[in-house]
Amino acid sequence: MTSESHFPAGTDDRTLAPPPGCPAHGLGPGGLHRLYGPEADDLGDLYEKLRQEHGAVAPVLLHNDVPIWVVLGHAENLHLVSTPTHFSRDSRLWKAVQDGTAGPDHPLAPHIAWQPICSHAEGDEHLRLRGAVMGAMSTINHRTIRRHINRATQLLVNRFCEKGRADLVSQFAEHLPMAVLCEILGMPDEYDDRLVQATRDLLRGTETAIASNEYVMNILIRHTARRRAETTGDFTSVLINHPAQLTDDEVSQHLRLVLLAAYEATANLLANVLRVVLTDPRFRAQLNGGQMTVPQAVEQSLWDEPPFSAVLGYFAKQDTEVGGRQIRRGDGLILGIAPGNIDPKVRPDLKANMMGNRAHLAFGGGPHECPGQDIGRAIADVGVEALLIRLPDVELEGDEDELRWRSSMSSRHLVELPVYFAPQAPQDVEDVPSINPLPRQRPSLEVTTDEPAAAPAPAPVASPAPPAAPEPVRGLGAWQRFLRWWRGY
Ligand code: HEM
Repeated sequence: MTSESHFPAGTDDRTLAPPPGCPAHGLGPGGLHRLYGPEADDLGDLYEKLRQEHGAVAPVLLHNDVPIWVVLGHAENLHLVSTPTHFSRDSRLWKAVQDGTAGPDHPLAPHIAWQPICSHAEGDEHLRLRGAVMGAMSTINHRTIRRHINRATQLLVNRFCEKGRADLVSQFAEHLPMAVLCEILGMPDEYDDRLVQATRDLLRGTETAIASNEYVMNILIRHTARRRAETTGDFTSVLINHPAQLTDDEVSQHLRLVLLAAYEATANLLANVLRVVLTDPRFRAQLNGGQMTVPQAVEQSLWDEPPFSAVLGYFAKQDTEVGGRQIRRGDGLILGIAPGNIDPKVRPDLKANMMGNRAHLAFGGGPHECPGQDIGRAIADVGVEALLIRLPDVELEGDEDELRWRSSMSSRHLVELPVYFAPQAPQDVEDVPSINPLPRQRPSLEVTTDEPAAAPAPAPVASPAPPAAPEPVRGLGAWQRFLRWWRGY
């Protein structure tokens, strides 16, 4: 492995593209591969080509040919996330942000733009903000949440069980996490199809993403104000009353972080686990007495198809070295979760069953390691098991090879997962005994072995009048409005 550096900007001439006839023709300036455009249609293939050419850390180009490193090795990714003295998540340190090449107009600006939330903070500020989030997480009763996941699953299955057919992405995986997250945040009455639709819309960055974000933010801001006025002990109340003394704006921005990041990741995970369960012969064998349990299928999926395939990014605080590469202060690095998970040094045989091994990179690591991973896992474990109990004969409709995927640098997920099964009558679902009066299921359908909670139900929180349909914000260009909401002002 050589230790030459193609960066930083200004030291290499990155303006000249290789001429026709040169073996590097078709590549970007400096002969570097692009992580966008036609070459990046299959990012998995591209990462493996980069690993062959460069080893564990490769120089690449983002949109507008902005140079950045992508970290491909498992150990090197762990080093990146676990060395806060050398690497930060504060994008304001990135040379490309400072010199404007990755400025507000950059196509990936929403992933890059700094925001005053714990994911972008470091040091004492990170401790303050993350401390409040962790304090709020610590109030979550995992037994209660598992029961809510189970009941929400029953309600969703009731919606389609009589038809004998369903799309498990749009009718199940994209709903269950939202139902559970609304419960966790203390706003179960806000869960409905419209909130799911608005969240999906804003995550896809469509034409109406800004209006959808406003719709979601309005709900979160109203919820923050309600809990500021009347504390109940739920996640949001604890976030508000934490000694870190978050402002209302910080509270609603962190609710958004939790709602969006957790929703997207968990919806992807659920769809991926369902695909494994429906197609992997090792899981089918388990149904007949054998090899892979649902929690193992979850972990296998977190290795093979992590819900976030990469995180942009980490930024070097000083000159350093990773994977034999000289990294200079101000360089940017992509946390390569998907390529790190299939690094041949840790997985010489990609077909091997990981047997529940949790050493993958799906939840990041170090000071920013995902604090919600147990909840993400619980939604997938309980949701998939409960669905299989309700629809034991469920089968994939069509061939696995025909499944369509949607990919970006940060995630790759299923567009749909069509299934069929023998039509069934809906199940009775009884009221939940605590938190809020959600419908409850028959004891015989319980997947978890947990005891039912005895806590009495607090008075339901009055739901505000339904907000008006998202209206586009006028006066600014669409992209500027998008950037404004992304930055939170
Ligand atoms: C399968 C589900 C999930 C996956 C794969 C996932 C993955 C991740 C990843 C990769 C990060 C960034 C780590 C880094 O920068 O090194 C992260 C951060 C975070 N996640 Fe998750 N996540 C999931 C579910 C959740 C849930 C359910 C919650 C909350 C209920 C949550 C809350 C957060 C928060 C608050 C952060 C920022 C932490 C910080 O910067 O200190 N996540 N997650």
